[in-house]
Amino acid sequence: MKTIYMDNNATTQVDPAVFEEMKPFFTELYGNPSSMHRFGGQVGVRLKEARARVAALLNCEPDEIIFTSCGSESDNTAIRSALNAQPDKRHIVTTRVEHPAILSLCKYLEKKDGYEVTYLGTDENGRLDIQEIKDAIRPDTAIVSIMWANNETGNIYPIEEIAAIAKERGVVFHTDAVQAVGKIPIDLKTTPIDMLSLSGHKLHAPKGVGALFVRKRLPFRPFLIGGHQERSRRAGTENTTGIIALGKACELAIQHMDEENTAVRALRDTLETGLLAAIPDSILNGDRDNRLPNTSNISFGYVEGEAILLMMDQLGICASSGSACTSGSLEPSHVLRAMGVPFTFAHGSIRFSLSRFNTAQDVDYVLETLPPIIKNLRKLSPFSAQKSAPACTKSFSE
Ligand SMILES: Cc1ncc(COP(=O)(O)O)c(C=O)c1O
Repeated sequence: MKTIYMDNNATTQVDPAVFEEMKPFFTELYGNPSSMHRFGGQVGVRLKEARARVAALLNCEPDEIIFTSCGSESDNTAIRSALNAQPDKRHIVTTRVEHPAILSLCKYLEKKDGYEVTYLGTDENGRLDIQEIKDAIRPDTAIVSIMWANNETGNIYPIEEIAAIAKERGVVFHTDAVQAVGKIPIDLKTTPIDMLSLSGHKLHAPKGVGALFVRKRLPFRPFLIGGHQERSRRAGTENTTGIIALGKACELAIQHMDEENTAVRALRDTLETGLLAAIPDSILNGDRDNRLPNTSNISFGYVEGEAILLMMDQLGICASSGSACTSGSLEPSHVLRAMGVPFTFAHGSIRFSLSRFNTAQDVDYVLETLPPIIKNLRKLSPFSAQKSAPACTKSFSE
């Protein structure tokens, strides 16, 4: 059975060109870039090239890039660095729709270390209110951390505007751009962001490599302490194969982003329009006009998302309900709850996230197979009984 992979916000296929580029670093180029000998030194030279490629995608300086192990490490490093560099400031501003890499850390910092956190809400389309961001910043705010694009809905936030507000108020600004990098243009020369997180496996590099942009002269406190790698900003022998791969993936993103976005958006739109037309009681979640070109989050009312996923899985289709990190629990997604999506719809939400490796045949297959799945599940669903009653509009405040 063919696999139709539409779960690219969870992780992506390693691009064959990326794989080719990293191969020699498993076999002949295995030296340690910190070694004094030329054998290790040549790897160091290639890491430098990779750093320049990542910086080129973001339009920043290569030495503003710190390689990490993943997006979560970059996020944790950014927040903790800002807090440790400003010990007199005890307040954080973030949103209710962040990835757990930010949200769980903030909850931990509140509970264990006594920090105060303001969690900004959204409207029903998942949009933030700029005035609320301005109002939330206080004299003791150490950092504002707001994601660039949401992993569940694909919503793109006005990061240029938010970064400018933080700069004007003299507050450190971090953005989790894990879903944005490689999918939309980012220009750190013109956007006053202090720190930005990215993750290799979301842009066709392998798992286990990420990066944190830290603007020159921003006071920085390392998260991992030890050796002098990454100019003493992140200890640990570099994941050389991963870094080389990330560099290549960034180069490919620079070369192909525009044409790929057009193609992926067209596939996504055909899928989305077809599903919404064919399946009654289905709604689009998120900001229709301002989201990633690859993402479509649709709620199929009165049916369980997990059941839909299982049925699709049997037919070779991979997608997500909620985010990959929260599926496995029967709680509806925190993002949809923050948007006030009614219970009977939040439970039946499916995220389709496409990539350059999807085809028109993939979309046709999903359009053929999903409507009958939903129809059959609705016959069995306990939620169907609620259809005649008004949909529960409980808002899922935490
Ligand atoms: C928005 C966002 N931030 C952070 C992460 C965590 O990235 P990683 O899996 O590389 O730790 C993810 C992964 O799903 C994400 O989507």
